[in-house]
Amino acid sequence: MFSKETYKARREQLRKDVGHGLIVLLGNHEAPFNYTDNTYAFRQDSTFLYFFGLQHADLVGVLDCDNGKDYLFANDIDIDDIIWTGPMPSVADQAASVGVDNSGSLADLQTLCIKTIGEARKIHYLPPYRADNLNQLGALLSIKKEGVCRYASMELILACVKQRAIKSAEEIEDIERAIATAYDMHVGAMKMATCDRYEYELAGFMEGTAKMAGGPLSFPVIMTTHGEILHNHGYSHKLTPGRLLVMDAGCETANHYCSDITRTVPVGGHYTDRQRTIYELVLAANMEAIRITRPGITYQEVHTAASRILAQGYKDLGILKGNVDDIVANGAHSLLMPHGLGHMMGLDVHDMENYGQINVGYDDETRPSTQFGLNMLRCGRRLQPGYVITDEPGAYFVPALIDKWHAEGTNKDFVNFDELEKWKDFGGIRIEDDILVTEDGCRVLGKPIPKTVKEIEETMGM
Ligand code: GLY
Ligand code: MN
Ligand code: MN
Repeated sequence: MFSKETYKARREQLRKDVGHGLIVLLGNHEAPFNYTDNTYAFRQDSTFLYFFGLQHADLVGVLDCDNGKDYLFANDIDIDDIIWTGPMPSVADQAASVGVDNSGSLADLQTLCIKTIGEARKIHYLPPYRADNLNQLGALLSIKKEGVCRYASMELILACVKQRAIKSAEEIEDIERAIATAYDMHVGAMKMATCDRYEYELAGFMEGTAKMAGGPLSFPVIMTTHGEILHNHGYSHKLTPGRLLVMDAGCETANHYCSDITRTVPVGGHYTDRQRTIYELVLAANMEAIRITRPGITYQEVHTAASRILAQGYKDLGILKGNVDDIVANGAHSLLMPHGLGHMMGLDVHDMENYGQINVGYDDETRPSTQFGLNMLRCGRRLQPGYVITDEPGAYFVPALIDKWHAEGTNKDFVNFDELEKWKDFGGIRIEDDILVTEDGCRVLGKPIPKTVKEIEETMGM
């Protein structure tokens, strides 16, 4: 947890930015796994963490913009709970620990909401992403379930994005701690990527390494010799010589700041010539993004610049044809990278995605594209110092997609489908770093994780 001054200052800013009414921020509840008392590992809601920092279940934070008061609501536990879960600080003590002066029970919260509605003051809340929070909001505000998401407060969403998008020095330190653990996860797994292992062994190593450092994973490990499947969460394949292994994994710190790193390594330790060629191309796109990322440029422009590098490389290989600018303008290169260059990262690995991606990654000036590939760019907005963003270009040879475009003649002026036939068994490559936008450029966060062909082959050979 940060100091109580950090949380007080964040709440003060939020009250100022929203300006009027009552802000209700629900913490998360325990979620049953296969029966009520057997729960998933508890994960606090990230907005609640950002403004209140408290890690227990069933808490509700309230900010009154009109009188400047903050509240924490929950029911104190009784002896039956203490027998099973041990003692816990009272709600009042938890509130005091993060500088909140007022506390009460959930019945008190209900009373406050009814009073606020009676005063015709607005109650601001965020769109819920869990069914139990949706139900709780519906009951608290007397709104039918279907209406809960519709009446979520856009003013609150935009005020939260404004604050959370700019990471403070203490947040950056925490993110770099998460990347330090990701270093151990990735370097350890690289050394395990020999031919007599299964994907699940390396995925298990990564998860164990994250947990040994005190935090959970930031998302389920992607560990696959079928890297052309972008978010492949199966781990059943045996590592066979000649395959590439995509390892996309990160963790959370105790404060829940994330890392999200991808490396792609050759099973057995040496890239083939063909693999090295495509690897160097993806690496060049990754490095181009690092070279040009700075305040004032949009991430859509950075995505396009990285796309141009890929398009030129595929043209040189005879896979794409025509003018590079036309290839990119028509989205022909997206056949081989059907996703965006990156997303914001912070307390969520895809930071704030629960607010609605368009509200986080775009603004009035920069709107999302509808073009295949570019429409998956989660962050396209103009960059500001303090943004933390991922830089994750890739190369994917998806047989079903190649066949579909071929059959439909999609971008046939730019794609050499006969040449592409030879690449359909290639798999995929992704290279992902977490970068901080600084005052005059950007910085790749954390201790450098082996990334060049030479660094990876050397690490795997150790
Ligand atoms: N790990 C998911 C992503 O890179 O966005
Ligand atoms: Mn990733
Ligand atoms: Mn990512």
